[in-house]
Order: sequence, then C-alpha cells, then structure tokens
Amino acid sequence: MGVPATLISLAEVSEFKKALRQEQSTIAFVPTLGALHHGHLALVRRAKQLADRVVVSIFVNPTQFGPNEDFAKYPRTVREDIDLLATLNVDAVFLPNTATIYPAGYQTYITNRRMSVGLCGTSRPGHFDGVLTVVMKLVNIIGCDVAVFGKKDYQQLKLIEQMFRDLNHNVRIEPLDTVREPDGLALSSRNRFLSDTDRELAVRLNVGLRAAAAAYQRGENKVDTLVEEFHKVAKVGGIALEYAEIRRQADLESFESMVDQPPVLLIAAKIGQTRLIDNLELDKTIG
Ligand code: PAJ
Repeated sequence: MGVPATLISLAEVSEFKKALRQEQSTIAFVPTLGALHHGHLALVRRAKQLADRVVVSIFVNPTQFGPNEDFAKYPRTVREDIDLLATLNVDAVFLPNTATIYPAGYQTYITNRRMSVGLCGTSRPGHFDGVLTVVMKLVNIIGCDVAVFGKKDYQQLKLIEQMFRDLNHNVRIEPLDTVREPDGLALSSRNRFLSDTDRELAVRLNVGLRAAAAAYQRGENKVDTLVEEFHKVAKVGGIALEYAEIRRQADLESFESMVDQPPVLLIAAKIGQTRLIDNLELDKTIG
C-alpha cells in the first residue's frame, strides 16, 4: 500500500510530471467526481494495466451540474477516497480547487452539437458542455497517454471519444464495462441516497434492461417491442422513467423502427429524489 501524492496546484502537477518525464513513464488517468466505489476502482485497476503510472482526479465539477441539480449535496468523501486509492497503489491524486480549473475570467467551453442532444441532454441542458470542457482540461493538465471511462455513463463516454477524435487529440480512451451489485444494480455514488424501498425498486431498471436483451437474443428486432420489454418490468409506481431508448452503439443515432446495427438500450429514471441512469449493449450472442 502506497499513499498517493496529492497534487492540488498546477505547479504541483508540473513537478510530478517532470519527475515522470525523467523516468520516461507512461501515464494512465482516471477522472472522477469522488465518492469512490468499486466501479471507480475497477477503472483504476484497468489503468494500472495500461501504463506505468496512474493518476486519479477528484473534482466535483460545478459546470456539469444544472441550477436545480445536486451539486451542493453531491457526496464528498475525499479522505476515504484517498485511503481506497492507497490500497491500489495509485501514484497521484489530483484535487484541484474550482479556481484552478475555472479562474476568474474563464470563457471557453466545448459543445457537441449532435450526440449531446437527447437522452440525458434533454433533462440536463448544458451538462455535457461542462463534462467535455472539464475532461479536456484535466487530460491536458495531466498530459496522460490513456484515460479510462466507464460505460455506465454511455452517452458521456461516446461524447468524450467523439471530442478527442474531432479535435485531433491523440489521447487513448479506454472504455470499461459497468460494475454492478450482485442483483444487477449499477454501482453509483448516488445509490447511497436510496431508501430501502427505493433500493428494491431500483433493481428493476437492470432487470428491465436484461429482459430487453433477452428478447433481442431471441430474435426480436422491433425497437418498440424491445423498449416495451423494459417498460413491462420498470414501469411501476415509484419509478419515474425519464427515457428508455434504443440507439446505435456506434454513434447513438436512433433507429427507424427496426434494429439493424449493434444497439444499446439507455434509460434514466428518478426513484424518490435520486436520479439513476443505466444501459445495456444488446448482443445477439447468448450470454
Ligand atoms: P463519476 O460519476 O465520478 O464517474 C467517474 C468514472 O467512473 C466515469 O468514467 C464513470 O463512467 C465511471 N463509473 C461510474 N460508475 C461506474 C460503474 N458502476 N462501473 C464502471 N464505471 C463506472 O463521470 C463523472 O464522474 C464525471 O462526469 C467526470 C467524467 C469525472 C467529469 O467531471
């Protein structure tokens, strides 16, 4: 177990990078909002396989939260987070202040004009501008060779891949499968806000996704029927569904009425006050 270096200022990051350059090490980077769980830790483990050194950032990025969202009450558990990262021998944790990322007079934001429209973009206007902007800045500050992201935030992952492609940035983006509770609920920092009854309802989101996946594997290709399989399980009192949509895995475009390319079913729902998202890449192979 090695306590990671904590880097707060840009000068501290520069010093750290100087040392790494001397030893010619490669860097894998895992950006997070903190409140770390086993999903985040799986990204860190993957990062360790991909480069000599691993840097994790913990930054609750204000620009990706809307005015009525949970920025103020987003869980902040930095001490526990660093302890967890120490058990994985992470080399450094970047913990910037807001003024370091957005100094007075800050003006530049990155906007995706297509893939950010719809799905989470509908209920969270401006959210992805905040995500893309901070991810670009963090990747540039750390100067990593590879950055690891979870498929749990599928639209976010696809937007990040698109951004680096569009802007000719040669960082490698490594996607990782969603880590789940034994019953299928996707791990999320927000799960801690679910009451016991909410928690029982929440599993239906994943059961519904798997019902749709099973129908697809049986040969069902109609978009509406596949979504209906999800609704049959998840449209119950206590779950306020925001969206359930089948999109193309490659670019998140919609299908006409029949699935004719690898699909992903993406969903968002509010249970109590907690907003949850999940998705499943539907697959023809029986797994
Ligand atoms: P956060 O929600 O903390 O997630 C950080 C990373 O962990 C993201 O890549 C996310 O997809 C991944 N992750 C979360 N839950 C996961 C799970 N159950 N299994 C696998 N991976 C999971 O996403 C963000 O932070 C922010 O938007 C960020 C990219 C850091 C920009 O501020």
